[in-house]
Amino acid sequence: MLKVVVLISGTGSNLRALLDGLDEARASDAPIAAEIVAIGADTERANLALGDERGIPTFVVAPGAYPDRAAWGDALLAKVREFGPDLTILSGFMRLVPPRVVDALAPELLNTHPAYLPEFPGAHAVRDALEAGANETGATIMIVDNGVDTGPIIDQRRIAITPDDTEATLHERIKVVERQLLLDTVRHLAAGTLNLKEIAS
Ligand code: GRF
Repeated sequence: MLKVVVLISGTGSNLRALLDGLDEARASDAPIAAEIVAIGADTERANLALGDERGIPTFVVAPGAYPDRAAWGDALLAKVREFGPDLTILSGFMRLVPPRVVDALAPELLNTHPAYLPEFPGAHAVRDALEAGANETGATIMIVDNGVDTGPIIDQRRIAITPDDTEATLHERIKVVERQLLLDTVRHLAAGTLNLKEIAS
């Protein structure tokens, strides 16, 4: 059973989709041997009810409680490790993970990004694509490294931008694809048909 810890900062709609996808797979004839064993956040404002309503342990490690980023990272890493994950996923986690955390968890540390990397890295990818006047963007799932959205790409899909798109409508369409990339990646990792160390090498 692949043990997964997921870190969020906001609504966690992609996490909700992953939870539902795993439940649906479990009830199907093609179950996915993966379990979300904990949900963590950098803020109490994150939607940790996603864990509470499913009996999944949740935790908050808030940067403001620590003297600096490195100390916060060390506390976050210690908390994640309490659950012994085989895989840690950042899903709308809006903090740059400190190097000691990346070095300890990667390549079993994944993130999704709402653009076709290396296009539009950073925290405003959807808005940046619209402002650039692009006619397409995308969704990417990648291994986290010590850069900003620069890690080895596992998979990505192109998504068209329509003239009447707003940041909200485009981001919603992107998230649908991110959720599929996430579930497919967890499915392949659980089945042993995807090797993160090979991708990261
Ligand atoms: C996703 O598009 C993710 O790629 C980005 O933030 C969004 C998270 O949305 N970093 P949600 O919190 O899962 O709804």
